[in-house]
Amino acid sequence: MLIKRNPNGIDLPFSSEITPQDVYEGRRQFLARVAAGAVVGSGLWEMANRQAFAQGAALAKLPATRNAAFSTGETQTSFADATHYNNFYEFGTDKSDPAENAHTLRTRPWTVQVEGEVRKPMTIDIDRLTKLAPLEERIYRLRCVEGWSMVIPWVGYSLSNLIKQVEPTGNAKYVEFVTLADRKQMPGVGSRVLEWPYVEGLRMDEAMHPLALLTVGMYGQVLPNQNGAPVRIVVPWKYGFKSAKSIVKIRFVRDQPKTAWNGIAPNEYGFYSNVNPNVDHPRWSQASERRIGEGGLFTPKRKTLLFNGYNEVASLYTGMDLKKFY
Ligand code: MTE
Repeated sequence: MLIKRNPNGIDLPFSSEITPQDVYEGRRQFLARVAAGAVVGSGLWEMANRQAFAQGAALAKLPATRNAAFSTGETQTSFADATHYNNFYEFGTDKSDPAENAHTLRTRPWTVQVEGEVRKPMTIDIDRLTKLAPLEERIYRLRCVEGWSMVIPWVGYSLSNLIKQVEPTGNAKYVEFVTLADRKQMPGVGSRVLEWPYVEGLRMDEAMHPLALLTVGMYGQVLPNQNGAPVRIVVPWKYGFKSAKSIVKIRFVRDQPKTAWNGIAPNEYGFYSNVNPNVDHPRWSQASERRIGEGGLFTPKRKTLLFNGYNEVASLYTGMDLKKFY
């Protein structure tokens, strides 16, 4: 997020960076030819595999019941855009890097360690975690601190379901999410752009809010690697960087965790990072946003809404100065 900027300071998604629909259609036809045996053994097999990965062609279906009360009716971002315009620095800093590189991530076996100030710590296998509560589909807006947003049908359940299982003690004031940092699988972990592992955190009452989603899928399928497989969180009223991907540890702690972006640039990225059009980033305005896939560069931007429009979380911050606690 700190790295690639246009002259205005905002990392705008230039339309040329997003592969157009017809190119994807072309890839589909290519894959169909591969399936028909036209290019097997011709040296293009590896390339086809990578493309199949990039398209999410082989992803398992994940049936879920739509939670209409927690879903926006706004037009959904296309699967192609949501999986090819990503921030996942463990796989590189360009928006196209995660789709290009994340095929090296191994998502099985995978366990999540839940520990710290809890009565019942546990190490839970991803397949058990996926079944811990009924899966819901929730169509959330996600607003990135860089000034763009998407609308994505996520699959998961309220994080509170997991939290209740481990019985936090009275000392648990915050929840820390620690994500995988394995150089062998993640080429970006060799870089010094952030401190690894990528860590994020929430205050306990934020983590318990029903909107905070423990997420295992999107668009009716398991998460593509570049979107944080096999498990991430999605916190729709906060800037996207709070939504940690590929989580391996969830820790309940007394003190506010030192988080990745807050740690590297505390004056730019606060711990709370609630979407707030009234608090500018020191280098750019947060008053408006560009919806990915919506028109071209000259399409008027949308007005950004406080808490990304999720007003039901406002009571979590009663009495807090949101300019101070940005
Ligand atoms: N999680 C990890 N582990 N590493 C990252 O670099 N980037 C964050 C967040 N979670 C990031 C991460 C940022 S800046 C954003 S905007 C969202 O993931 C992007 O999620 P998406 O690619 O699924 O849209």
